[in-house]
Amino acid sequence: MTTTTNLGDLAVSPIGFGCMALSHVYGGTTDDAARATLGAAVDAGITFLDTSDVYGKPREGATGPAGTNEEMLAPFLSKRRDEVQLATKFGITAVRTGANDSAKRTDGRPEYARSACDASLSRLGVETIDLYYHHRPDPDVPIEETVGAMAELIEAGKIRHIGLSEVTSEELRRAHATHPIAALQSEWSLWSRDVEDYVVPACAELGVGFVPYSPLGRGFLTGTLTKEQVADDFRGGTTRMGEAWDANQKVLQIAAEVAQRHDATNAQVALAWLFHRAAEMGVNAVPIPGSRKPERALENLGAVELTLDADDMAKLDSIRTLVEGTRNIVDNPDWISSGRE
Ligand SMILES: NC(=O)c1ccc[n+]([C@@H]2O[C@H](COP(=O)([O-])OP(=O)(O)OC[C@H]3O[C@@H](n4cnc5c(N)ncnc54)[C@H](OP(=O)(O)O)[C@@H]3O)[C@@H](O)[C@H]2O)c1
Repeated sequence: MTTTTNLGDLAVSPIGFGCMALSHVYGGTTDDAARATLGAAVDAGITFLDTSDVYGKPREGATGPAGTNEEMLAPFLSKRRDEVQLATKFGITAVRTGANDSAKRTDGRPEYARSACDASLSRLGVETIDLYYHHRPDPDVPIEETVGAMAELIEAGKIRHIGLSEVTSEELRRAHATHPIAALQSEWSLWSRDVEDYVVPACAELGVGFVPYSPLGRGFLTGTLTKEQVADDFRGGTTRMGEAWDANQKVLQIAAEVAQRHDATNAQVALAWLFHRAAEMGVNAVPIPGSRKPERALENLGAVELTLDADDMAKLDSIRTLVEGTRNIVDNPDWISSGRE
């Protein structure tokens, strides 16, 4: 098995672990169970951990990033910091609140980057963050200013590498000219392919690694979710997993056919497809699926060994045209990169 993949100059495990799934957002778990899952994942070789200051249950009455997912990680990191590559993010300052949906939700000011980084370091209980992402561009702050401040955080020894999330190819080029960007994180999966138009080719050209988030379609592509499960969280309110739930079952049938052929699971096929598609497009990709269950984390790691042939890829590529509903989970089209390019 390949033991590491490079995101820019940062070597990470070939598959990462998305820690957001350990928070309340998809059902939640206890902090002890979350850390036990992480322990099993790291033991198995999944050492690239992805969190954000905005993940985790918000505190009653508090505004701004919750930081509770980072706090959950701290006791784990106090024992195993040296074994992992730690990524976190800053810049989303308010979550979707329905009535307040049009409120400004991002902050990329240099002074905010500095204070957010200090807050994350303190909550995580670490001296350095290996990969620090700006979670969403701030429309009022040129990306050069935000990335310039992040470059100063590298000089100060607080972070090691810079990442960006949901930037356009043009924003990426401007940022990369300011300071080398190690990784771009955006949604990319069998049913979310818009990044292939501009962003992935720009990463390939610049040597920037790609970190596909929600690589399992927030659980849908695994074929294990039920309508009842998603009705309890925000996923049931999206077109894809709400009104188009039944229509999108045909996506699962195709993934299941390929899975059956390889005696694999849908989740493994979805991840293996990403590795193959990224290789076709000339970019290093490290997906970060998340799960509350240790056995699922290990199952996902098995995707690294799964080889798909041209026939499998053609079948899986056909999913692109069948999907009903977009990947954007907020009403504002600018929230995702393809809404701005
Ligand atoms: N940059 C951004 O804006 C952004 C946005 C979203 C997510 N992210 C990052 O990307 C990570 C992953 O995305 P995600 O959590 O949204 O979606 P995902 O990884 O596509 O799917 C996660 C869901 O899939 C289920 N699952 C995982 N492995 C499975 C398996 N083998 N079989 C069946 N079900 C499985 C999990 O449920 P169980 O827990 O029940 O197993 C979980 O609810 C997040 O944790 C976060 O770090 C970043």
